[in-house]
Amino acid sequence: MTSTFDNHAARYSDEVQSSISFSGLRHDFFLQAKVDVLARTLRRNFGAAPPGTALDIGCGVGLLHPYIEPLFGKLTGADISAASIEQAQRLSPSVAYSMMGESLPYDDGAFDVTLTVCVLHHVPPERWDSFTREMRRVTRPGGLVCVIEHNPFNPLTQLAISRCSFDADAVLLRASKTRELLRKAGAKKITTEFFLTLPARGGFFGRLGRLAGRLPIGAQYLTAARA
Ligand SMILES: C[S@@+](CC[C@H](N)C(=O)[O-])C[C@H]1O[C@@H](n2cnc3c(N)ncnc32)[C@H](O)[C@@H]1O
Repeated sequence: MTSTFDNHAARYSDEVQSSISFSGLRHDFFLQAKVDVLARTLRRNFGAAPPGTALDIGCGVGLLHPYIEPLFGKLTGADISAASIEQAQRLSPSVAYSMMGESLPYDDGAFDVTLTVCVLHHVPPERWDSFTREMRRVTRPGGLVCVIEHNPFNPLTQLAISRCSFDADAVLLRASKTRELLRKAGAKKITTEFFLTLPARGGFFGRLGRLAGRLPIGAQYLTAARA
């Protein structure tokens, strides 16, 4: 399997920045917002003890990894783009990276947490079921499957997608669709938190944004479920 992302690996960060430049915010802000929602979800599910092993599926050039590596005992990344994996490995030498195909090169229940961030909308819809089934398969029973996706109901998300050079193939998933996929994959206790509702992480507006986490208005959402 090859990936069109091989052609975007070298300029991935610049291309994302250019698609969101209308917001006046830096890409770091969006990365940090993902880390915040992931950290909250992990705390809700595992308490203060950090989960041991995590797999980031479709990790790309690994821009999230310097931020999320401290949340886990051991982080592994997998992608179908060799050029992206090479770049990720240079950025985070202590993360283990593997190429993947339609199935994941890991044993059943190998990870406490599996994560996929802004990947499913690039996977052809007829393969969504097998993708989420594979995610659940490599997550240990009682472990956590986490999907971060764009919210198609948010107009600014739609604008960013329309301006992004590698999103021409994107088929956005409503949170209800992502929940359905995880349910069909056999996962349980499914929750969704919408985030990036307001352009603030802290203070009054940060708190207000978190309070609105159940409303489908944030630019992105995290759906989590127990394997
Ligand atoms: C928009 S990038 C997101 C990268 C990374 N998760 C992030 O948030 O920075 C989408 C990634 O999904 C990968 N991808 C696309 N289809 C995939 C598939 N079927 N299985 C695994 N990865 C896939 C691409 O190679 C690319 O690296």
